[in-house]
Amino acid sequence: MSKKIMLSGVKPTGAPHIGNYFGAMRQFVEMQKDYEAFVMIADYHALNFIQNKEEMQANILGVLLDYLAIGLDPKQVTIFKQSDISPHTELAWVFDTLVTMPYLMRAHAFKDAEAKNKEINVGTFNYPVLMAADILLYNTDIVPVGKDQQQHVEIARDIAQKFNNTFGETFKLPEHKILADVSTVPGTDGQKMSKSYGNTIPLFAEYEEIKKCVMSIVTDSSGDVPTNVYAIHKLIRSEDELKELYETNKGKYKILKEALIEDLEKFIAPMREKRKEFEQDIPKALQILNEGGGKAKLVASKKMKEVKDKLGVNLN
Ligand code: ADP
Ligand code: TRP
Repeated sequence: MSKKIMLSGVKPTGAPHIGNYFGAMRQFVEMQKDYEAFVMIADYHALNFIQNKEEMQANILGVLLDYLAIGLDPKQVTIFKQSDISPHTELAWVFDTLVTMPYLMRAHAFKDAEAKNKEINVGTFNYPVLMAADILLYNTDIVPVGKDQQQHVEIARDIAQKFNNTFGETFKLPEHKILADVSTVPGTDGQKMSKSYGNTIPLFAEYEEIKKCVMSIVTDSSGDVPTNVYAIHKLIRSEDELKELYETNKGKYKILKEALIEDLEKFIAPMREKRKEFEQDIPKALQILNEGGGKAKLVASKKMKEVKDKLGVNLN
C-alpha cells in the first residue's frame, strides 16, 4: 500500500519557540518515516507580517536551519519554499472565485484582527485560501498543526468540496492532526505561547536565555504547584517523574524553576548544537531547499494542469 501524504509548514516570521515545536514541528519529524512528507516554508504567508528584504531572507534561512536541526531528513521529506512553487498562488486565485466574502469573514484570524480594529490587508483576509492551495496541491491526507490552525484545515476541506462539486472530483479532503495534550502550549505569562505576545521560550535558546525566560515565568502564589512552570515542565519530563520533584518541593518555586532550567537545557542543547553545525554549511542547506523545490514543483504542476483542464482554460 502506498504511503499517506502529510503536508505542513511554518511561516518565517522569527525564531521558533517550544510552543511551535511541541504543537506542530515535532510531529513533522515523527511522521516523516511513515508518510510521504512535504514540509514547507510559508514565506508568502509571512509576507503579511514581514515586509523587509533582509529580514525575510534571514527568516527563511532560519526556518530551513530549524527544520534540519529538529531532525527533518531530506531523504525522507521534501522541504521546500512556498514562493518557489507558483501553482500555490495560481490555485489560490482559482479558489478566490469559489469562496465568498461572508464565509471568509467567519475565520478566527480575520475576526480577531477586526475586533482589534486593525487595518486588514487583502492578504490577511485571503490567508486561509492560500493555505488551502498549499494543502490541496499535494493530495494531502493529513496536516499536522497546532490547535490554532484547525479552522484553516477545515476551510481547505470546504474549498476542496466546493471545487469538486463544481468541476468534478479533483481534490482529496485533508484532515488535521492535532496532539491533544500539547494543542496549546502556555507562555511564560500563562497565555498561549506566541511570537506576538513576547512570552516565548525560544526553541534554540542559549543557556542564559533559558534561565532568563524561566525566571520570568509568572507564578501564582495561591497553590503549592506553580501552574505555569509545571505546564512547561511536563512537555519534557513525564508526569510520573515530576510528581516526586513537585511533591518534595511544594511551594519552593525557585528550586522548581531551577530544575526546569536544567531540564530545558538538556532538551534544547543537542538541537541547538546541531543547528550550529548546519549553519557552518549554508550552501548545503540551500541545495536541500533547491532539490525539495524541484520535487514539489513536479507534484504541484501536475495537479495544477488537472485543475486547468477542469476549469476549461486549457484548449488542448
Ligand atoms: P506564533 O503564534 O508564535 O506566531 P505560528 O502562528 O507561526 O506561531 O505557528 C506555527 C505552528 O505552531 C502552527 O502549527 C501553530 O498551531 C503552532 N503553535 C504556535 N503556538 C503554539 C502554542 N502555544 N502551542 C501549540 N502550538 C502552537
Ligand atoms: N498558517 C500556518 C501557521 O501559521 C502556516 C502554514 C501555511 C501551513 N501553509 C500551511 C501549515 C499549510 C500547514 C499547511 O502556522
